[in-house]
Order: sequence, then C-alpha cells, then structure tokens
Amino acid sequence: MCLIYPLNRIIDLFIPSFMVMTGIVFGVFTFLEVLATERSLAFNFEHWHAQQFTRLWKTFGPLGSNILRPTISPLAAVANGVVLDIGPGDGQYLAHYQSENIIKLYLVEPCVGLHKRLRENVKKAGLEDVTTIIDCGIQHVNILYDHGITPASVDTIATFSVLCSVPDPEETCRFLYSLLKPGGQWVIVEHVIADLKFPLARWIQGMFEVVWPTLMGGCNINRDSGSYVREAGPWTKVELGRGQNEFGWEMLGHVVGRLVK
Ligand SMILES: C[S@@+](CC[C@H](N)C(=O)[O-])C[C@H]1O[C@@H](n2cnc3c(N)ncnc32)[C@H](O)[C@@H]1O
Repeated sequence: MCLIYPLNRIIDLFIPSFMVMTGIVFGVFTFLEVLATERSLAFNFEHWHAQQFTRLWKTFGPLGSNILRPTISPLAAVANGVVLDIGPGDGQYLAHYQSENIIKLYLVEPCVGLHKRLRENVKKAGLEDVTTIIDCGIQHVNILYDHGITPASVDTIATFSVLCSVPDPEETCRFLYSLLKPGGQWVIVEHVIADLKFPLARWIQGMFEVVWPTLMGGCNINRDSGSYVREAGPWTKVELGRGQNEFGWEMLGHVVGRLVK
C-alpha cells in the first residue's frame, strides 16, 4: 500500500512508537506474571526478556506477516535442498516452502516459548518428515556441527527478520556464508538502517535503538544487514533491493533479495 506524503511518514513513525509502548506494557505484565507464578525468577532479566518477547511476538508476528507475506512468500518458494532457516519464530512462513523441493529443513530457533506453534506450523506445512528444530542461537557453532551443519553443507539459507537479533552480525554472516555450498543461495528479508542520504531518519532510529533491544527481544532497529550479507564473501549473483514501495527513510524499511554463492 502506497500512502500519500506526509501520511506515510507519520504512520511509519507511529509503528515503532506503538511497538515501544506495547513492549513496555507487555514487559510490565510479564514481570507481574513471573512475580506471581515463578517468584524466584522475578528479577532474572534473561527469563523476563524471553517471556516478554514470546508474548510480544505472538501479537506482532501475525500483524507483521500481513505486510511481509507477499515479499517473503516468493523467496521462501525458491528454497531447495538442505535448507537452514534461522530464527523462524513460530514458523508463520513455513507454508510457503515447497516441500517437494526440500531434502532437509533445519529450523534454528532459540525462543522455546515459540516452539509449540513452530511444531504445529511444521506439521501444517507438511514438512514434518524433513524438519529438525534446533533449540539454540545461530552462534552456537558446535551444536550446529553436531547436526551436520558444517561448511559447504547447505543449499539454502533463509533469514527473515532475524539478522537484527543475532550477536556480532558481520561475523555471523561470514559464518553463514561458509555454510553454503558453492552455487548455494541465501534468501533474505530484513528490516535495516535508513539510507545514508536520510540522516534524520537514521538519527530517529538511533533514538529508538536506546530501548529497542531491551523491549524487542534483542532486536536492533538500525543494522545494515544487507551490507553484512553482501560483504560476507564473494557472490556469483546478487539480487538485493529495498522493499516494495519503500523510499529508504522508513524506520522499519527492508532489504529484500537473493544471493548465490
Ligand atoms: C523478529 S522474529 C522473526 C521470526 C520469523 N523469522 C518471522 O519472520 O516470522 C526474530 C526471531 O529470531 C530469533 N532469534 C533471536 N536471536 C537469534 C539467534 N542468535 N539465532 C537464531 N535465531 C535468533 C528469535 O527468537 C525470533 O524468533
């Protein structure tokens, strides 16, 4: 949907502000709930963070998918062979994978609060026979190796709204590049920092960033994830661009595309 200036700018600013407010409200509820049910964990930040994010994503995930589904579905549809989907969340896009083209699907998802829905969506997508859910972050290389995810072993890497949350994103992207077979592909849809030519938008993102990782499960609003992936190693093909109808100043604008090793 292409809204008319300046309405589009106002709405674009409103979305992250609304998310911050909701994050605070959910954070308070989560704290009170933990206090009432698991008192010993009430002041454990990691626990609160995971619980608050689970609650948040169960609300925002489906809302966001209404916007991103048309962008993600054609990219998910080209996934083939051994597929590594990083941070699939509750698996809301799994239905777009073409199960007949997938030999093996690894879902690396550290948020256990989302695993129940994730398993349900694996089943709905008819991917049960080929799927392994790995309960860790992508940085846990040894766990990945134990599953046979080693250098040059993967045909398709899928990152949809996750590079904003991984630790040391540049290093992580180089590691992911190493996992791809020659000729392997990386499909990506990530929200990113505003374009260089919009310093005010970058500055506002910087303001949001002060609270964003705490309230959004470790997500960062101003990462240059497109560049990290492009520079992760030599590619034979790079098809990367901005999301549809985006100008480059959006708070949650996207980099979208496919790269071939
Ligand atoms: C914004 S959600 C996106 C979920 C899903 N890709 C989608 O678009 O519906 C980010 C996901 O990345 C996961 N995540 C966070 N840190 C991660 C890490 N270090 N390794 C793998 N996944 C991670 C979160 O648990 C969460 O499920």
